[in-house]
Amino acid sequence: MTDWTALIRDVPDYPKPGILFKDITPLLADHAGFTQVVDELADGLAFDKVVGIEARGFILAAPVAYRSGAGFVPVRKKGKLPADTLEASYELEYGSAAIEVHVDAFNPGERVLIVDDVLATGGTAAATVELVRRAGAEVVAVSFLMELSVLAGRDRLPGLDVRTLVSV
Ligand code: PRP
Repeated sequence: MTDWTALIRDVPDYPKPGILFKDITPLLADHAGFTQVVDELADGLAFDKVVGIEARGFILAAPVAYRSGAGFVPVRKKGKLPADTLEASYELEYGSAAIEVHVDAFNPGERVLIVDDVLATGGTAAATVELVRRAGAEVVAVSFLMELSVLAGRDRLPGLDVRTLVSV
């Protein structure tokens, strides 16, 4: 077992002054650490599809789907998916953003694991849960590599199985 948490790098003043950015690229570059994290994100869960949230969520969700024998579904920022979509909006610090999923991404009642790198305010994840449900599937859990617990993003995901591998 490798202590993969030591492979998350603090980058001061990114993307703007005063922000301490948690950079997971050293972890992704370490085979043992990356493998361990991918295994832990799906540990003990049964699901048919894995949803990855653009962009860093894709990096984690796709190998989770591969190792689990599940399909992968991308949730993308508005305007990036080519076929018919469902859209959900969420609030940012300044303004709002929108994400989309293909309307036919799931079969009715499929069990879905949502994966992303970071749970911060929870706005992105809550909008993703809404999209999965509107598309006719069931969210079995939401798994994050990291939780910024001071932002209380879990409060935006009531009644859900919310898993985070590390709290920072
Ligand atoms: C980051 C992160 C999560 C989201 C968490 O994505 O990857 O998806 O923010 O924030 P929240 O809990 O406050 O909603 P970002 O929008 O920066 O996109 P990126 O992965 O494309 O950089």
